[in-house]
Amino acid sequence: MPSSFTLDDATAELDHVASHADSVSVSLESVSKAFIGSNGEPVQALSDISLDVRPGEVLCVLGASGCGKSTLLRLVAGLERPDSGRITTGADVVEGASLERGFVFQDHRLVPWMTVRENVELGLHRLSGDARRHAVDAKLELVGLTRFSAAYPAQLSGGMAQRVAIARALAHQPRVLLLDEPFGALDAITRMQLQDELLRVRASERITTILVTHDIEEALYLGDRILVLSSRPGRVRTILPVSLPRPRDRADPAFGKMRTTLYEQFFQHSR
Ligand SMILES: Nc1ncnc2c1ncn2[C@@H]1O[C@H](COP(=O)(O)OP(=O)(O)OP(=O)(O)O)[C@@H](O)[C@H]1O
Ligand SMILES: [Mg+2]
Repeated sequence: MPSSFTLDDATAELDHVASHADSVSVSLESVSKAFIGSNGEPVQALSDISLDVRPGEVLCVLGASGCGKSTLLRLVAGLERPDSGRITTGADVVEGASLERGFVFQDHRLVPWMTVRENVELGLHRLSGDARRHAVDAKLELVGLTRFSAAYPAQLSGGMAQRVAIARALAHQPRVLLLDEPFGALDAITRMQLQDELLRVRASERITTILVTHDIEEALYLGDRILVLSSRPGRVRTILPVSLPRPRDRADPAFGKMRTTLYEQFFQHSR
């Protein structure tokens, strides 16, 4: 990320970017999912989840470990099929994986023997050479890694590698961006930098985004709304709109008040 880029810049950009024409809604209608556990018994991961994510919205998903957050994301991605219920993006029913839904995992999952550029290019073979180069250049610039395009993953810091993973997901021009604890393995400072990075991406792309996190503050800093899931089986506990103005200030008393509300919500149902 260029060090001169500030949150004010991100907000200014946000103000100038009209809502992304291709933004789509994501809807879950009474979605349930069970798995067969190690003892052969079914484990109900999610139960009767109904939810509408608005076009261009950032929805953060909070919940205790094992409550089904990753399952929810994998269902929206089409990597898993629901046992019952329906998931749609715009007018399309989700029936399998698609590059229209970009996925960023907690660990970057970059191919170690490919450069940054080659990693971002992966899967773009349908584009001509020039178009491919342009798409990769644009996304590397967006995440501030132009200078590192020839580096290998082992030569990057954890935060840089995660930025490459975000650029790779964005290179396909997805209509939905799904992030599963993307900053979970990073130290606190890098994490905050990457949160600002994501706001910057949002300012320019306006992609409908679902971000799973364990971190209440991260959800408050990034989310337009926060979905809190109850413990297993995961159900919608509450959906909280975050009415704080952007750029958000973690030291703002209103931010602190919402943090307290969320802690209460979170620990009430985590017990
Ligand atoms: N492929 C699978 N096979 C069997 N059980 C699974 C599978 N995937 C998930 N589960 C079970 O479903 C439940 C929800 O798992 P999931 O990974 O969605 O939780 P999570 O909220 O993402 O947890 P964490 O915060 O620890 O990442 C857990 O009990 C898990 O053991
Ligand atoms: Mg998970």
